[in-house]
Amino acid sequence: MRLERQWLCQRPGLRPPSRHAHSRRHQRGRPLCLRLAAAGGFGQPPRRELGAAVTITLTEHPYPLPPAEQFELIGLWRSEWSRTDYDWLEALNGDYSETLETISVVARIDGRPVATATVSFAKHAPETCLIGNVVTLAAFRGHGLARGVTEAAVELGFRAGCTAAFLGSSQHEGNVYERCGFSRLAGSIMRRPAPGYVETGAEFETGQPAGIRPAVWGDMPGFVRFLTEPQATVVIDYEHGLIAMAHAEPLRCVSAFAVLHDDAARRNGAMLVLAAGNRVLGVGTVTPGPKGAGAHRAKIDFATHENYAPRLDELLARLLADAASREVSIIETLIAETDRSKLEVLSRAGFEPIATLPGHLRLRHGYTDVLQLERRL
Ligand SMILES: CC(C)(COP(=O)(O)OP(=O)(O)OC[C@H]1O[C@@H](n2cnc3c(N)ncnc32)[C@H](O)[C@@H]1OP(=O)(O)O)[C@@H](O)C(=O)NCCC(=O)NCCS
Repeated sequence: MRLERQWLCQRPGLRPPSRHAHSRRHQRGRPLCLRLAAAGGFGQPPRRELGAAVTITLTEHPYPLPPAEQFELIGLWRSEWSRTDYDWLEALNGDYSETLETISVVARIDGRPVATATVSFAKHAPETCLIGNVVTLAAFRGHGLARGVTEAAVELGFRAGCTAAFLGSSQHEGNVYERCGFSRLAGSIMRRPAPGYVETGAEFETGQPAGIRPAVWGDMPGFVRFLTEPQATVVIDYEHGLIAMAHAEPLRCVSAFAVLHDDAARRNGAMLVLAAGNRVLGVGTVTPGPKGAGAHRAKIDFATHENYAPRLDELLARLLADAASREVSIIETLIAETDRSKLEVLSRAGFEPIATLPGHLRLRHGYTDVLQLERRL
């Protein structure tokens, strides 16, 4: 029997979710079938047949999750990955939940979990959602399950008020996310605008009341959106391989925030954001080296949206103050030789070039030199 005839809801009398899914109390394990049917999520015929009549349900699981639900999800993820860029257990236990809403959608066949996708968005006034950890058990691929769970996850983000969804994906031919309405911006990053949303750049317009503060997990979606915007500098974070999209194909999407945040935390460093609410307009990191007999050194980097270039000096000053509070005595940074605006900001703050690394940075249009600059605190 064709699978499309078998998208049955186990509890067909359930109402579709409210328009403000994020603000109400989530009903754990609530079937999503009706909403998917209405959204046409499973409208396409599957490419293969399962060979028997089956019942497929989709359920949503808002974090923090009880152990049994954690176990199911980790089982699905571990069928493909032994780890990802953020800590599964921290997320599942709700360590990020104060500022970040995270919901996993699970597809089950005859009760057995077979596919999942996860959506994350800021807890308060979300604008951007991220889709991640999409996986279907190998034996169940090609039946539209990934498409179904991805559609459901995106829908949760849009219902919460997000104007765009982002995800990271390799450039796979016949990409399942293209079928879910995503288009590739560059490199690994794909975006899907919410229905009726027209990009005007209003989110990043000048003059917003933005302040500098330590990054929190609720900044993760806004940070990914920031990465896709025009930057005031070529390099966003040299140490962590983040280059402005205008100059290089991005290699990271959802994981970009976790890489910066966790590396800073692990090394007793800091990740700061220039933000208006959870709208990220700039970022800076202090990454200390090991404390030894010699001078305590740290690397810093920083970037803003091009509309917020005048705040680069202030961001740098905050990073220097943060480094000083960690008893760092020498600060170093690496910049693209072509990054003239960043060089000016660093020079104003007393940094001096100490070395040139020839052709060390590969940008979209070829290799460029890297300048190493240093300043004593
Ligand atoms: C990608 C994946 C989730 C698709 O699951 P699925 O349930 O088979 O997906 P669907 O049936 O809805 O869609 C199938 C399409 O996915 C496409 N696809 C396969 N691997 C893909 C990938 N890594 N990225 C994007 N699309 C992929 C296939 O080309 C297929 O298209 P086709 O129907 O033209 O052949 C599954 O192959 C998987 O779990 N892969 C390992 C984990 C992974 O790579 N996850 C994605 C991380 S971004």
